[in-house]
Amino acid sequence: MKVLIPGSFDPPTNGHIEVIKRASNVFDEVFVGVVVNPQKDPMFEVAERKKMLSEILVDISNVNIESFEGLLVDFAKKMKINAIVKGLRAMTDFDYEFQMAQMNFNLADFETIFIPASPEYGYVSSSMVKEIYSYGGDVSALVPSVVVERLNNG
Ligand code: PNS
Repeated sequence: MKVLIPGSFDPPTNGHIEVIKRASNVFDEVFVGVVVNPQKDPMFEVAERKKMLSEILVDISNVNIESFEGLLVDFAKKMKINAIVKGLRAMTDFDYEFQMAQMNFNLADFETIFIPASPEYGYVSSSMVKEIYSYGGDVSALVPSVVVERLNNG
């Protein structure tokens, strides 16, 4: 089975990586889809996010890093994906994720499979990482070392 894990990954966190690794243990092929969102002002360009993800996940042979623009379901169809995979951190994620899952099913019959994040990653988000970093805080426990290096080297 071929699945797609979509997201902004701006930047990738330890929580994202855990979900991708766990998905790679369950599914034959895992595509990570970095969204190109023209409305957002990202910290990292899409190419940079893809590069970081590729470096972090280099040892996992059934994971592929891609990017997409437009509707997730259109990209999933193009890539001949069987299902969408998302990580769920806490109940706070649930409403939004449930709504997107129902919408993607309504749009194109794509099922969404949720992987529950481990408790140690339940509180980690890219937006908090960016906020902590912007105030000079230490994010090294929240993101892979590749991301820490990229942040430190501007
Ligand atoms: O990491 P994020 O920002 O929470 O990921 C959100 C993402 C990329 C999954 C969502 O914004 C998305 O699917 N965008 C593509 C456009 C789309 O298909 N929108 C309708 C979703 S129901």
